[in-house]
Amino acid sequence: MSTPFLQSDSSENRETNLRLSHRFDEVGFSEIVKIRNRVMELKAEGKEIFQFEGGEPCLNTPDHVKQAAIKALDENKTRYAPSSGIPPLIQSIVKKLQKQNHIMAESNHVLVENGGMQGLYGAFNSVLDPGDEVLLFSPHWTPTRDLIHMSGGKAVCVNTIEARHRGIKSCLENHRTTATRVILLNTPQNPTGIVFTRDEIQEVADFAQQHDLIVIADEAYEDLVYTGEHISIASLPGMFERTISVYTLSKSYAMTGWRIGYAVAPEPFITGLQKSTLYSSNGVSTPTQWAALAALKEPSDFKEIALEGYRLRRSLLVDGLNLLGLKCDPPPAGAFYAFPEISKLGTSSSQVARQLLDEAHIATVPGIVFGAEGEGHLRFSFSVAPELIERGLEALSTYMRNLT
Ligand SMILES: Cc1ncc(COP(=O)(O)O)c(C=O)c1O
Repeated sequence: MSTPFLQSDSSENRETNLRLSHRFDEVGFSEIVKIRNRVMELKAEGKEIFQFEGGEPCLNTPDHVKQAAIKALDENKTRYAPSSGIPPLIQSIVKKLQKQNHIMAESNHVLVENGGMQGLYGAFNSVLDPGDEVLLFSPHWTPTRDLIHMSGGKAVCVNTIEARHRGIKSCLENHRTTATRVILLNTPQNPTGIVFTRDEIQEVADFAQQHDLIVIADEAYEDLVYTGEHISIASLPGMFERTISVYTLSKSYAMTGWRIGYAVAPEPFITGLQKSTLYSSNGVSTPTQWAALAALKEPSDFKEIALEGYRLRRSLLVDGLNLLGLKCDPPPAGAFYAFPEISKLGTSSSQVARQLLDEAHIATVPGIVFGAEGEGHLRFSFSVAPELIERGLEALSTYMRNLT
C-alpha cells in the first residue's frame, strides 16, 4: 500500500536532487564562446577568418616581465605566498594607486587576485544578498551580469547613451528601488569604449552617497584612453569608504594568460574579498606575482608604446567603418573596441554577425550579447594587426557592395 508521501516522491514532476544550485539558473556561458567555436570550425575547413571578435591585447608580455617569472622559478619562489599577495607587490600596487589613480589606499586595502575576474567575483560575492539589485550601465561586459546573478543578485541595466544624454543621476534614479545596493561602474567601458567624464563620475558618486550605495569600479582598461582622462571613482571625496575598485594587468601589460590583477577596498569589504579568494584559489601563483612586480616596478615604455599602437589601429578601423556607413558615434575614447551601428547591414545583430562570419569570414561579436542596449551594433576589436584591419575592411566593403 502506498502512502501519499511515497506517491509524491515517485511523481514525474518531482524535482531531482541531482541538480545545480538555483544560483546558477540565470548564469550563462558567454555567447562569445559560440562565435569562437564557429570560427574554429571555419578555420578547420581551411578558411581564412578576419578575427575581430577577440578581447585581449595583440602584443606579447614584455620581456622583463617574463624574465622576472623565470628568475622566480630559478630561485624556487614556488611555495605558497600570503593569500593576499606578496608584500613587495602589494607595496608597488599601493604606490601605483596613490600616484596614478589618486586613491590613498594602504597595504591592508589591497588584495592580489587572479585577474580582474576574480576581483569582480569577490566583490559581488562579498556584498550581495539574494535579491539585491545592482545598477549596471549597459551595454555591459557580459560576464558582469552573470557574476551578479551567481552571487544571488539581480542586474538592472541603465542605458549608458540615454544616461549620458538625459543625466546620469536621473537615469539611475529611474531604476533605483528599495532593493538597490550597488552600482557597477566600468570605465573605460567594454564594449562601447566610452570613458566617463569627471563630471559624470561625480554624478555617480553623488548618487551613491545620497542613497548609501556601494560602488564596484571595474577599471580593467584604465591605461587605454585615447581622448579624455581616466578617473577612478574611489579617488573622489567620500568615495573610498564605499568603493571596491578592481584592476588587472591583463590589458595594461598584455598579461591575459597569467591571470593577475588586484582589488582595492576598505573594511568591511576587503575582509569579504580576502575570504572569497582564500576559499577559492588561496591566492595567486607565486611566480606570476613576481612577474607582476616587475611589470609595475621596473621602468619601461611598454604602456606608452602599446597605447600609440592601439591609437593607430583605432583610427584605421574607426575611419574605415565610418566610410562604409557603419557609424562609430561617438568614436571609442578608450579600451580597444569599435562598436558601430549596423542598420546598413540588418536589424538583428546576431543575424548580421552570423552572416558576416559565414559569408565574408569576418568575426565580430553581436551587440545583443552585451545586453538589449547593445542591439543594432557589432563589436570589433582593433587589438589586431593593422594589415588584418585593412584586409578585413576590404572584405567588408566587398560584402556590402554585393548586398545592394
Ligand atoms: C570590462 C572588463 N572587466 C574585467 C575584465 C577581466 O579581465 P581579466 O580577468 O583578464 O583580468 C575584462 C576582460 O575582458 C573586461 O573586458
